[in-house]
Amino acid sequence: MQLVTISMEEPLLQIQGLTTCYGESRILRDVDLQVHGGQMVCLIGRNGVGKTTLLKTVMGLIRPQQGQIWLGEKDLLGLPPHQRARAGIGYVPQGREIIPQLTVRDNLRLGLEARPGGLARHDRLDPQVFELFPMLATMLERRGGDLSGGQQQQLAMARALQGKPRLLLLDEPTEGIQPNVVADIEQAVQRIMAQTGISVLLVEQHLHFVRQAQTYYAMQKGGIVASGPTADLSQAVINRFLSV
Ligand SMILES: Nc1ncnc2c1ncn2[C@@H]1O[C@H](COP(=O)(O)OP(=O)(O)OP(=O)(O)O)[C@@H](O)[C@H]1O
Ligand SMILES: [Mg+2]
Repeated sequence: MQLVTISMEEPLLQIQGLTTCYGESRILRDVDLQVHGGQMVCLIGRNGVGKTTLLKTVMGLIRPQQGQIWLGEKDLLGLPPHQRARAGIGYVPQGREIIPQLTVRDNLRLGLEARPGGLARHDRLDPQVFELFPMLATMLERRGGDLSGGQQQQLAMARALQGKPRLLLLDEPTEGIQPNVVADIEQAVQRIMAQTGISVLLVEQHLHFVRQAQTYYAMQKGGIVASGPTADLSQAVINRFLSV
């Protein structure tokens, strides 16, 4: 994986005025959000406020009613999810969504589809992923469904990295993970950023992990109601927007 270098002035991900509805219900309301190159940004908010809907809209799994989404110079709005993946977005969904009956190797190979040309052109798993997650190299033939929750989370991140993304969308990577494994997941994300230079948009409830990000955005009823450096996160904001 090569090191991605992007200027700090131009945002890598730029979201403007994003509004998304499910049927008649408006879920996202006029959301503006930016992620700069090499940055980790954390989106916080209580259950059901629209965090997953925002990531799915960025990934192209849901079509917004209004707004703009840019990745660098590229307008993502008209693109289907696989083209957004090939444009440089890696997506690790809430609940991980690894394929339980496929082996670890075959789950990882699915991530190669996100490279330009897909599996037809890329057959080799990126070896750097085994430096980041040495444990996965020892269980390539094991069924994904037989892995522990923490191992499945590592597999889901490693799968997304096979596409060599510029931006990783991580939706609650520590949800349902044993407390003693939460720190491992947090460190894995730190390693990914240090070794690849990619940016991360994280949805997370654990305060320690949230504080690893430089910037936070707090969501309520589908709108961004507070944002700023995580260094400035007050106890009042934490109590209001985090549930762990
Ligand atoms: N497919 C769907 N159809 C209709 N409504 C939906 C659908 N998916 C989600 N919603 C609703 O949209 C709102 C936002 O859901 P979303 O999953 O984005 O919240 P979230 O902030 O990620 O919550 P959580 O912290 O529980 O993961 C919720 O009220 C939810 O019930
Ligand atoms: Mg969610």
